[in-house]
Amino acid sequence: MAIRSAIVTVMIQAAYKAARGLVRDFGEVENLQVSRKGPADFVSTADLHAEKVLRRELARARPDYGFLLEEGGEVAGKDGNRRWIVDPLDGTLNFLHGIPHFCISIACEHDGDVVAGVIYDPLRDELFRAERGDGAFLNDRRLRVSSRGKLADSVIATGIPWHGREGHPEYLAQMEAVMGVCAGIRRLGSAALDLAYVAAGRYEGFWEPALSPWDIAAGILIVREAGGYVTEIDGGTNMIASGDVLAGNDRLHGDLLALLAKTRKG
Ligand code: 2AM
Ligand code: CA
Repeated sequence: MAIRSAIVTVMIQAAYKAARGLVRDFGEVENLQVSRKGPADFVSTADLHAEKVLRRELARARPDYGFLLEEGGEVAGKDGNRRWIVDPLDGTLNFLHGIPHFCISIACEHDGDVVAGVIYDPLRDELFRAERGDGAFLNDRRLRVSSRGKLADSVIATGIPWHGREGHPEYLAQMEAVMGVCAGIRRLGSAALDLAYVAAGRYEGFWEPALSPWDIAAGILIVREAGGYVTEIDGGTNMIASGDVLAGNDRLHGDLLALLAKTRKG
């Protein structure tokens, strides 16, 4: 069995605890689909409750750390060098619609670098985790990105921009380039799980523009620790700042970068 450090154990225990409420609430959401008011208010309460549980559990174990929370924003800690980056419910739109694909994502940042990441899918009981330099794991199995080296054999995940977002024409050019050369594109609706699935070798790659730090902080580390590469879509390395992400296995990340670069020239 893989050895876990104290910090990862804290993250896992917090995720398990918050997940119990999410699973219970997800059952209720399925009932609310047919109600006239719909489940929107209920879901935002479920989301806030999960965040409260995570914050309480993480703060209990490490009282001095700060936070960056999807709902609560930045919370300064006494220790100015360490903080948790928390998404209590990634895949909110899925959750709201009763689609069983969502997760909790927790990253631990030290001096601006993510040193540990946990992504938990409670419906499948899949716990993805990594610590810097120690590899990535799914439950207790070591993860490695897929070894497929041909785009024609690859499944690539993405996130499609929605109403109110900029950059639809640029995105459509990217989609056109990728769909013409790969075996299939998937859009499952949780960026954190998309990254975890690249780490697990289920997808050969994943790209999505304009995400937030809590969507990607844990997943970037998990992909890298599984032997994959993560950059911005244009090859830059400020993913947390820009929110643009291109992840891939070690054989195809370069091909995907080149393919997406061509969409900018024409
Ligand atoms: P969320 O479910 O926590 O909102 C889907 O394309 C991905 O985009 C999800 O990981 C989703 O996270 C994320 N996302 C980031 N900002 C978003 C927004 N303003 N609205 C919806 N999804 C958003
Ligand atoms: Ca999210």
